[in-house]
Amino acid sequence: MALNEPLNRKLRMALVGGGQGSFIGRVHSIAACLDNRATLVAGALSSNPERAKASAPDYGIAEDRAYTSYQEMLEAELKLPEGERIDFVSIATPNHVHFEVADAAIKAGFNVVCDKPMTFDLAQAEQLLETVQANDAVFALSHNYTGYPLVRQAREMIASGELGEINAVRAQYIQGWLRTSLEEEDQKQAAWRTDPSKSGAAGAFGDIATHAYNLGRYMTGLFPDQVSCSLKTFVEGRKLDDYGTAVIRYENGALGTVTASQISHGRENDLEIEIDGTKGSLRWRQENPNEMIYRQNGKAHQILTRDPNAPFMNSMGAAACRLPSGHPEAFFEAFANVYASAFDAMAERAAGKSVEKKDTVYTNCYDGVEGMYFIQQCVASSGENAAWVPLKHEAARR
Ligand SMILES: NC(=O)c1ccc[n+]([C@@H]2O[C@H](COP(=O)([O-])OP(=O)(O)OC[C@H]3O[C@@H](n4cnc5c(N)ncnc54)[C@H](O)[C@@H]3O)[C@@H](O)[C@H]2O)c1
Repeated sequence: MALNEPLNRKLRMALVGGGQGSFIGRVHSIAACLDNRATLVAGALSSNPERAKASAPDYGIAEDRAYTSYQEMLEAELKLPEGERIDFVSIATPNHVHFEVADAAIKAGFNVVCDKPMTFDLAQAEQLLETVQANDAVFALSHNYTGYPLVRQAREMIASGELGEINAVRAQYIQGWLRTSLEEEDQKQAAWRTDPSKSGAAGAFGDIATHAYNLGRYMTGLFPDQVSCSLKTFVEGRKLDDYGTAVIRYENGALGTVTASQISHGRENDLEIEIDGTKGSLRWRQENPNEMIYRQNGKAHQILTRDPNAPFMNSMGAAACRLPSGHPEAFFEAFANVYASAFDAMAERAAGKSVEKKDTVYTNCYDGVEGMYFIQQCVASSGENAAWVPLKHEAARR
């Protein structure tokens, strides 16, 4: 396939966040450029103007396109000739900044790839969905775990009925890095994540349970109905939850659980999901992402490995692979798959075609609204002694 067909050129990227000392902005820049379909040309890399400028050479961004704010960046880029101007903006700032950047970028005509959780609260998410619906820009949400080949394999297996009716979804995301009050030691990632004015209404549930919940939604396609949740803060003085479990009733009668922890000794990024269907069950873990276990009673357990040429791989799974089997693919490649699917849509838009916004391979603004509703309702349920509260969001409905 030609480069970004039918656009037939590289897409031009701008990065907001990702300044020196930060985490995920660098991952965005690598993932977006992994397939040579994009090039990073501009950025507003930090909330600190000097650091924003100083960080630009690390990314090879030219001095005149190293901006000190996203507002300055959008204004200046709009003045450039169309042939030089950025095509999309990637947002890798703390949560409270996502909405203003995304909303302004879409209204200025740029495509957006935004990190999760999509916004600070549900009201912003609903507003952003209206903006996305009213404009023709592409909006992708980087729930990067949906980009793993075996996750996409599972999605297609479930959609085609291989597992039968889905009865249960057990997802958990277990970490241990916030076992102590790291936020009081000037650790920047810990500081904003435990600050309700920057992170939002939830801590562990906003940061990582949203990934686990989204993964279940992405793989099974089941629609949620109600949720009951208990959140706890175990580290003294912390203002947001660092542990919790939610039970989800899905519309088809299935039951789901989502557990998130930041306080489990020795645990790193253990995102794991198990799905039980009437014909078979699946288990996938992101710390061992090139294998998925498929079980059926009475048969030997199968370990599906990420192998683009194996007859057991379906089209979605195989299309998400880059390397032959046995060469591990992981975080960067999965992230790049979310970008690749979004680039397909951006290239079509640039060629004047209208783009699908709801039913996309990449996670989108509707997933973002679902995620923010999940956070809001989990906090509400927990505040009412784990009462059952609604989890069906009409505007996010596919
Ligand atoms: N998808 C994933 O797997 C994943 C992983 C980590 C973080 N995240 C998400 O990515 C976002 C960033 O997380 P992080 O850990 O990289 O945070 P970080 O604290 O490491 O980096 C945030 C960066 O944003 C910059 N920033 C803040 N306000 C800004 C503004 N107004 N304009 C420009 N830059 C600004 C900061 O200066 C910093 O460079 C969060 O929303 C987080 O939830 C996602």
